[in-house]
Amino acid sequence: MKVVEVTSDNRELIDKIYQNEIDSFGVMGGADMWMIMSFIRYGKLYVLLDNFGKLLSVAQYQAVLKKNAVFLYGFSTPESERGKGYGKKLLESTHNFLKDIGIEMVYLTVDPKNIPAISMYEKAGYKIEELQKDEYGIGIDRYLMVKIF
Ligand SMILES: CC(C)(COP(=O)(O)OP(=O)(O)OC[C@H]1O[C@@H](n2cnc3c(N)ncnc32)[C@H](O)[C@@H]1OP(=O)(O)O)[C@@H](O)C(=O)NCCC(=O)NCCS
Repeated sequence: MKVVEVTSDNRELIDKIYQNEIDSFGVMGGADMWMIMSFIRYGKLYVLLDNFGKLLSVAQYQAVLKKNAVFLYGFSTPESERGKGYGKKLLESTHNFLKDIGIEMVYLTVDPKNIPAISMYEKAGYKIEELQKDEYGIGIDRYLMVKIF
C-alpha cells in the first residue's frame, strides 16, 4: 500500500478518481474533471493505492489565498473499501506531506449528519469552528472544521 501524489500525465489514475467521485457523491458535491485537473495543477491531489494500483482513498486539497492553508475540498474512500482504516491512513499521511511544504492549517466543510466523516476528522484533530447555515443552498448546511498543525 502506498500514498501517491497524482500528476497530470497519469490519465488512468485520473479516470479512476473521476469514477470514484460519481460513485461516492452522485451529482452533488463531487469533483468533475475540470476540478480534478485544477487540484492536480494548483493544489494537491493524493491517493492511497494498494500494491496492484487499486484506489483505496482520495484526498483533494485546494490552495487558500493569503494564508499558509489549504481547503480539503473532497475526501472519499470507495464504498467497498470503507471501514478498513484507509481514510485515516491517507488523511494522516497527507497532513505530514502538507506540513513538510509549510502548510499550517486545513479547512474543510462537512454535512452535520455525516457521522463517519465528522468522527474521522475529529480523531485527526479537526475542530468544528462554526455551522454554515444553508451554505450550499436552502437546507444544505455544513460544519466548517479546522485543523491547525
Ligand atoms: C468518511 C469516509 C471518507 C471515511 O473513510 P474510511 O476509509 O471508511 O475511514 P476509516 O476506515 O479510515 O475510519 C476512520 C475513522 O472514521 C470513522 N468512521 C468510519 N466509518 C464509520 C462509520 N460507519 N460510522 C462511524 N464512524 C466511522 C471512525 O472514527 C474511524 O476511526 P476508527 O477506525 O478508529 O473507528 C468514507 O466513509 C467515505 O468515503 N464516505 C463518503 C464520502 C464522504 O462523505 N466524504 C467526506 C466528505 S466531507
